[in-house]
Amino acid sequence: MEKEKKIVLSGIRATGNLHLGNYFGALQKFVKMQNDYDCRYFVADLHALTTHPDPTKLHENVKDILAEYLAAGLDPEKNIIYVQSDIPEISEMYLLMNMHVGIGELMRTASFKDKARKALGIHSDSDEIEKEIIGNQTNQRVNAGLLTYPTLMAVDILIHHADFVPVGKDQEQHLELTRRFARRFNSFYKTEYFGEPVNFNFGDHAIKVPGLDGSGKMGKSEGNCIYLIDDEKTLRKKVMRAVTDEGPKEPNSPVSEPVNNLFTLMELVSEPDVVKHYRDAYADCSIRYGDLKKQLAEDILKVTLPIRERILDIRNNDEYLSRVVREGAERTREYAARTLADVREIMGIKKF
Ligand code: TRP
Repeated sequence: MEKEKKIVLSGIRATGNLHLGNYFGALQKFVKMQNDYDCRYFVADLHALTTHPDPTKLHENVKDILAEYLAAGLDPEKNIIYVQSDIPEISEMYLLMNMHVGIGELMRTASFKDKARKALGIHSDSDEIEKEIIGNQTNQRVNAGLLTYPTLMAVDILIHHADFVPVGKDQEQHLELTRRFARRFNSFYKTEYFGEPVNFNFGDHAIKVPGLDGSGKMGKSEGNCIYLIDDEKTLRKKVMRAVTDEGPKEPNSPVSEPVNNLFTLMELVSEPDVVKHYRDAYADCSIRYGDLKKQLAEDILKVTLPIRERILDIRNNDEYLSRVVREGAERTREYAARTLADVREIMGIKKF
């Protein structure tokens, strides 16, 4: 029965195309979960506003991500797929929830500090940030929307009474805050209204997808991404240019981070015996990074090219896209309206 399935909710911010990190870190999980859970996936366009996207591009970006969701295998028959801004109940509940969120805890959130630090051009990580933020009265890049990002995210989740929220490691702190806000709301109003949602991983580890620049994870702001929409030529070029090192000088040398990153990517896309072949070649110093990269590009293309074809198809089908999100919004608003009505009542707001 539908009702007995656990509720899964997740979203991706509408900023830029989806890359291999999104695909292996999030989308693949979404697709795997769609058969066993009551899944709701959305495009977070309100969250995107916190970093001031070009208004002439935002809507196109929402469409890109929708097309990418669908092309990666999310089935609108099995899931609810919607756009955050189509659900006005979320914005109202965000206002209500903000009454129970402390400015201090928001200012200590890692994602806020990061963005504020970048916006203000400061490098220190101590008290200075807070002083700078308060001292700088007109920097709209450190805006209240950015500060209350975690409130909005908590509402995204709580409005569905979600049980599971499949997200990457970088979102763990936001999820922790969501649970904290839920507990606080419950104890303030002496209710057990909200449950505590948790992350979801298959197996016991979150997948971390490295970038091509030698260190760290693949990320939109790092400029080290392979996008699902990359064409063959672009993709090959990116992989061939990936950072490596001078090569192993003696047998069984430890693998440097840049090279290990390429192996990690390979483990995601290549057959195990292919990975083993190159690892062995590294160990006995016969490896040629050019060959490794060619193979890696080939195997990435096997994953991304079919998705790319579907993205292009779906992206051109406005009628289909709007049908999907219209239905998604209708179904989401049913749940959202119920939660919002309960929250208003719990908080004492009543209709005449
Ligand atoms: N903050 C998430 C990100 O940047 C996007 C997001 C917004 C989200 N609301 C959410 C993810 C609710 C999961 C659940 O990736």
